[in-house]
Amino acid sequence: MKRICIIGISGKLGQYMTEHALAAGYQVAGVCRPESVHKLDRFAGRITIHPGRTNDRAVIEQAVRGCQGVLTVLAPWGVDDYASGTARAVMDFAEPEARLIFSCGWHISRDGKDRYSWKIRAIVALLGPVLRALRLVDLNDQVVATDAIFASDTKWTVVRGSDLEEGPSQGLPVWAEHVGDPLLASNLTRRIDFALFMVAAIADDSLIRQAPAIVGCASASARAHRHEVSRSAQPA
Ligand SMILES: NC(=O)c1ccc[n+]([C@@H]2O[C@H](COP(=O)([O-])OP(=O)(O)OC[C@H]3O[C@@H](n4cnc5c(N)ncnc54)[C@H](OP(=O)(O)O)[C@@H]3O)[C@@H](O)[C@H]2O)c1
Repeated sequence: MKRICIIGISGKLGQYMTEHALAAGYQVAGVCRPESVHKLDRFAGRITIHPGRTNDRAVIEQAVRGCQGVLTVLAPWGVDDYASGTARAVMDFAEPEARLIFSCGWHISRDGKDRYSWKIRAIVALLGPVLRALRLVDLNDQVVATDAIFASDTKWTVVRGSDLEEGPSQGLPVWAEHVGDPLLASNLTRRIDFALFMVAAIADDSLIRQAPAIVGCASASARAHRHEVSRSAQPA
């Protein structure tokens, strides 16, 4: 049985990843803030919890030891480099051959070739500075975090999520290399399937050093372009 660690395990995405990972037979450990441990009560006895902030290097060092996969929720909370501190700790302490899977949003671009709608550009340009001024969220820190990941020689995958919705699973999302691809036009993924993609990526070596932008497999744009997906290098 493979051992994995979920960093940010108590959030919505983290809990969905836990369900998928347990169902897939992984031995699961996780890191979450001490005040959030209670959110994981339903997994009692089935997972190992390391209480701590996700950028606490000592906690991460202990939690990822011996893990073949590390799934990290990159959340740019506050203005103290939370996302980049988390990413650095994971890359510094994970086992050298471990698969490292990180979550973020479409606004992250690896090579500058993504083409964004006015809505996404407006959110980043207008809301970003406001959230930072309020010291709530630092969108740029997610950029700093992912730039460090892209530059690393670890076995990383950065999964770029579209807008998210709740609801039962529709299956593994499809993906494109760049936002702006017609396949992604629906800009909607079930959160439970975002988590499914993250867990499936552990065993999918074709995703190593890729930054897939995902969309729900049952979304209108995915259905319309399904034949193009099956011709491209998509995971099964
Ligand atoms: N939400 C969207 O529409 C959307 C769209 C695209 C991509 N994404 C990506 O999806 C991921 C997370 O999504 P989600 O919807 O599952 O988020 P979520 O449930 O809000 O959880 C995010 C994480 O942030 C932690 N957190 C919340 N408030 C915090 C604070 N003040 N200080 C430190 N940590 C805090 C949560 O831990 P606690 O349990 O301790 O609160 C949890 O681990 C991110 O990588 C995000 O970029 C989201």
